[in-house]
Amino acid sequence: MMSTMDPCPSYWLEYSNLQHTKHQLIREYLNGWFPKLGYSHSRVVYVDTHAGRGRHLQGQLGSPLVALQTLLQHKDRPRLLERCKVVFFFIERDETNFCELRSEIKQLGNLPAKIVVNTSCKDCFKVLHDVVTSLRHAGQEMAPAFVFVDPYGFKIPGRVLRELMEFPRVELFVNIIWRELDMAIRQERLRTKRSGMADTLDSIFDGSEWKDRVSSDDFDERANQAINLLREKIGAKWVTHIRMLGDNDVTRYLLMHLTNHDAGRDLMKACMWKVCPDGGFYVRKTDDPAQQFLITPEPDLGPLAEWLRCRLSAGPRRWKELIAEVREQVWLPTHLNKVIRELRRKKELVADDYRGRFDPINNPRLSLRVGEARGR
Ligand SMILES: C[S@@+](CC[C@H](N)C(=O)[O-])C[C@H]1O[C@@H](n2cnc3c(N)ncnc32)[C@H](O)[C@@H]1O
Repeated sequence: MMSTMDPCPSYWLEYSNLQHTKHQLIREYLNGWFPKLGYSHSRVVYVDTHAGRGRHLQGQLGSPLVALQTLLQHKDRPRLLERCKVVFFFIERDETNFCELRSEIKQLGNLPAKIVVNTSCKDCFKVLHDVVTSLRHAGQEMAPAFVFVDPYGFKIPGRVLRELMEFPRVELFVNIIWRELDMAIRQERLRTKRSGMADTLDSIFDGSEWKDRVSSDDFDERANQAINLLREKIGAKWVTHIRMLGDNDVTRYLLMHLTNHDAGRDLMKACMWKVCPDGGFYVRKTDDPAQQFLITPEPDLGPLAEWLRCRLSAGPRRWKELIAEVREQVWLPTHLNKVIRELRRKKELVADDYRGRFDPINNPRLSLRVGEARGR
């Protein structure tokens, strides 16, 4: 039988910028997610599949406490809890970690009645599979859920994630160790005979397409291919990711957010811009979180201006159409608006049918000036 003990207890000794950023993203996202879903549903759920001990040995909070504190300290908490029950479900397989986590939760004292904490000391994938199966048998939907999947390694069964994603309001936040997954894929592609690792990879990618689809010679491009394949197989409309770099500045972890909702995509993009204001969407392990961004770096909006010119060179577009189209890109609507303002100021771009900021149909038609459009 497989051991249920924490295979990497030294994880709890350190608290690097990678852990800090992961927790910062959870905090930022839940800050927006709780009110977004909580005001329109009677119940929302936060699931932490690899919950850990609740606190690092130097005192920093682990993800379950980060999530709980985000709600406890939320400025809208009283109003939110009037309408909605918030259920936290923490799963941790290692018994020692589990006991530590339970004791951390106990130390929070009596929680408000509408905050419910459930814990389970089992294998998370078995628990998730059982939950999905029993909901299906009962013909029930899952409440809106944010599911954080944070193993040490990369062996996450894609089928379980797909089954979760089939519920309409489930979002996934998945951390995988890309460097090791990539190594396994490359080694397996070189073999003439399938090894046991091929079965593991089939399980992660929920099929054998990884062999042909994750095949670029370039390390980062292979990561993009894997992310896109996972998005497709898990069945999510959007995947938004951040790369976590190791000591040698090479991608070590990929932290991916998967959702079927435009609002979820927008919110996660905004959170990632907050933690990476230069727009690189990568964080370094060795950076000191306390030292970062004394001066907030400004993103280079040149590529976005080029994207906009390219779109408009085919003909005029409504501002709101462009806002919707920029969702696919890394840029935020605020960036697009800044670029539009700048190009208008330089008289490169014309806005007509514009009835002022307070017009409810405030949706001007944007076009390049005739000379600009022809020159392209
Ligand atoms: C990376 S740590 C989790 C860190 C935690 N999410 C945080 O941010 O504070 C991984 C944890 O998952 C637990 N674990 C590993 N495999 C598991 C499984 N299949 N089911 C539940 N817990 C598991 C380990 O014991 C360990 O505590």
